Amino acid sequence: MIPSLKFAPSILSADFTRLGTHIKEAESAGAAQIHIDVMDGRFVPNLTMGSVVIEAARRSTTLPLDVHLMIIEPDHLIPAFRRAGADIITVHLETCLHLHRTLSLIKNLGAKAGVAINPHTPASLLSEIIHMVDLVLVMTVNPGFGGQPFIHETLPKIKQVRALCEATGRAVDVSVDGGINADTIVDVTTAGANVLVVGSAVFSDKFSIQHGFDQLRGKLAGHIDG
Ligand code: DX5
Ligand code: ZN
Repeated sequence: MIPSLKFAPSILSADFTRLGTHIKEAESAGAAQIHIDVMDGRFVPNLTMGSVVIEAARRSTTLPLDVHLMIIEPDHLIPAFRRAGADIITVHLETCLHLHRTLSLIKNLGAKAGVAINPHTPASLLSEIIHMVDLVLVMTVNPGFGGQPFIHETLPKIKQVRALCEATGRAVDVSVDGGINADTIVDVTTAGANVLVVGSAVFSDKFSIQHGFDQLRGKLAGHIDG
């Protein structure tokens, strides 16, 4: 039961002076959800956005907001992110001492729950928790920055995660994040990813958002429906 293919543009690479316009353009170009990277400067070596930006994105679109938390001990901030408009809240397995509790919190708030794993984290660590998860986010770069090169060693893990999700009998999303572009999109979808987080491949000052999406779709044509 592989869910449909979805593009999740990451606003990390958007022009923040025109955030609302960029989100609307991404929506018109075919985005299924908007990916928002929250970073704390501790779990990852970068500090980005919080509730204020989630609220602004919420006012710009009716698409689901897919909020990727790269923050240590996220529990105390999760209710505020939900209030701000997050529909899917993804925490890193590496940041949660009590992952079952954190996923329960997210679900009790009425959001979809996601778990992200870093490139070094094995898929097998998801086995006891996969039944609670709506989305697994396989990091295909080390988290922290947009525009990094794809780490090819993560490809077998995407397959393993897809198999774990299939075994639940539920339509669990497998998302890939980092270095997804025209060169890598076929490999990750073939491996079983169905949510494609795309930052620098669609938000650039060198081409339009629509052009970025067209390039990606062009590579998929003939390989996969969607
Ligand atoms: C990186 C973030 C990504 C980032 C992806 O830590 O989680 O969402 O925006 O950017 P690209 O697609 O440029 O690699
Ligand atoms: Zn992300």
